Amino acid sequence: MAEIDLIRAFYRNQARQYQRLVARQDHQGKLLAALDEIVALAGLVIVEFGAGTGNLTSALVDRAARVHAFDIEPSMLALARTQLMDSGLRNWSLAAGDNGRMPVAANCADLAIEAWSFVHVLDWQPNDWRRLVDQLLAEMQRVIKPGGLAILVEDLGIGRHQPQAPTADMERLYGHWQERHGFQRSWVRTDYQFASAQEADELTRLFFSADLAEQCLRSPSFLLPECTGIWWKRF
Ligand SMILES: C[S@@+](CC[C@H](N)C(=O)[O-])C[C@H]1O[C@@H](n2cnc3c(N)ncnc32)[C@H](O)[C@@H]1O
Repeated sequence: MAEIDLIRAFYRNQARQYQRLVARQDHQGKLLAALDEIVALAGLVIVEFGAGTGNLTSALVDRAARVHAFDIEPSMLALARTQLMDSGLRNWSLAAGDNGRMPVAANCADLAIEAWSFVHVLDWQPNDWRRLVDQLLAEMQRVIKPGGLAILVEDLGIGRHQPQAPTADMERLYGHWQERHGFQRSWVRTDYQFASAQEADELTRLFFSADLAEQCLRSPSFLLPECTGIWWKRF
């Protein structure tokens, strides 16, 4: 099976486990606070690319005027829908959508955001990821109003206390955003706090690696540090 199909099958089959993992991520709620420092989220219309099981979506709907969230994988979206319905809020919509072609009108949003999704360009088009990521950024620009903001949230090191791109390809991708597209960067700790040794072991092994599972189990409170980068640009 091609890499793209393997990854899609993984999200399709492991959506519930993914939701369990991200429920333990950023236990101190630092990401939303960091986003709110970049742009006051209150009152914004937001389009979210690659929303997955709706972990960030659920945080955003609490603050924003409206969030339109999309993902390519229906089994991820099904869990996002349940989580958002449970919130009791109604200022959101969820639908299937490819990051390259969001099913929304041009200039409809104040903010376009993605978290841990655009990095998949490295899997989808390993030899031509620059062209693909440029298309995704152009799609963000199409969606936001003139003067609106694009925000990209990606991995700067799971198991690390200080930020560092995990692979050379990711380093190049992040450099492309900063040097070619003029994005600014900050970072924040989004540590995982697992509830038990069993949960830490199971989820860390499934999504990350045996080494990170062992690192997490050595921590007295099943804490796994994580550094997360935030890139933003006003168009
Ligand atoms: C690591 S998950 C991140 C999910 C969510 N943003 C979060 O913060 O938990 C990556 C998500 O990107 C989605 N995805 C990958 N490629 C996509 C594409 N081309 N269009 C839309 N969604 C995509 C996957 O289906 C998956 O739900």
